[in-house]
Amino acid sequence: MISAVDDLPVDAAGKRTPRRIFCAHVARERLDVVARLRDVLGRPPIALVAGYSFKTNPRSELLQLARERGFFAETISGEELAWAARHGFAPDQTVFNGPEPPPDRASAERLAYVFADSVDAFARNMRRRVARVQGVRLRPSMIASRFGVPVEEERSLCDAVSLAPPDTPIGISFHARHGDFKGASWRDVAGDVLMRAIELERRTGRRVVAFDAGGGWTPEDFDANFHSDMRWLVDRIFDTLPACTRLLFEAGQAVCTPTEAMLTQVLEVRERPARREAIIDAGYSDWPEMHAYVHGFFVWRNARWEPLGRGPDRIAGRTCLEYDLIDGLRLPSDLAPGDRLLITGTGSYDHSMSFTFAKGEPG
Ligand SMILES: Cc1ncc(COP(=O)(O)O)c(C=O)c1O
Repeated sequence: MISAVDDLPVDAAGKRTPRRIFCAHVARERLDVVARLRDVLGRPPIALVAGYSFKTNPRSELLQLARERGFFAETISGEELAWAARHGFAPDQTVFNGPEPPPDRASAERLAYVFADSVDAFARNMRRRVARVQGVRLRPSMIASRFGVPVEEERSLCDAVSLAPPDTPIGISFHARHGDFKGASWRDVAGDVLMRAIELERRTGRRVVAFDAGGGWTPEDFDANFHSDMRWLVDRIFDTLPACTRLLFEAGQAVCTPTEAMLTQVLEVRERPARREAIIDAGYSDWPEMHAYVHGFFVWRNARWEPLGRGPDRIAGRTCLEYDLIDGLRLPSDLAPGDRLLITGTGSYDHSMSFTFAKGEPG
């Protein structure tokens, strides 16, 4: 796999800072890997459908690459639906899976899948016929979350599903951050939701035609586990949900994290007794996931990007926030103002959740 550093233009270090740099080769490779897994992991009649999570990074270049590879748009808002349409995702290649009610649609414009976040939302979506497959998100029973229909509301969900015309195709989804699994494995979580899908089908006589396993994989987690976990899930669905022909997943971080890097420059170097501290011109508001996982750090030296090792030093952002700093790095002894640093792995929520702060104007 090509790394973000190898994907940068040769003149990148000389550019204005702070700057987000899109790594086009990395993005292409990453989307190819995911598309290939989608294509090989199906087992007739079950085919995998890859959704691209717009909220994780709505950058046009990524959307185009995803669409060219047959990804569906996975959206959570009216604005994202409009952005998906502008980038050529047809309604029947679009998934809606968030708590906001989807806008009403003409019958020719129905979305492929809409997953309701509550029993009320399911009933409303049914009445408005917003989707070809009417879905509902279930809250895995072992996970504390505000999303999805909890186990306690399963009876009213069955009642709502039973009101649907008998031939209504039903979809079931779940999504949870893997950090919230609290000791359960991904298979425990997916298996919990699958059992409830089977029970819903039995109690309502309606057919579950689609199962959506959401997102939440980091790139490392995805590369290590997706293949075997999905194969396991395909086999379980094959054995237990005879009408189910589509297994969706909604990749966000697994695709996007390595596709951007942040170029920044050193503003000041402070020599402290125990450590060297560099103030840089990017801050928490530019990469708000700075503490969520370990990013890559590089310094421009001898006309190449050299990785920073582990050590006693720190880099601190330009904001007034106490937590706008990263400890545990080793900075070169000759580091000076104007030196360029590169932070890699900033292509997911570092992009979409960055915010305007201390820029002198309202956002
Ligand atoms: C329903 C749903 N699908 C997919 C995702 C994407 O998750 P990630 O970017 O962690 O892969 C999210 C994120 O919140 C989500 O809520």
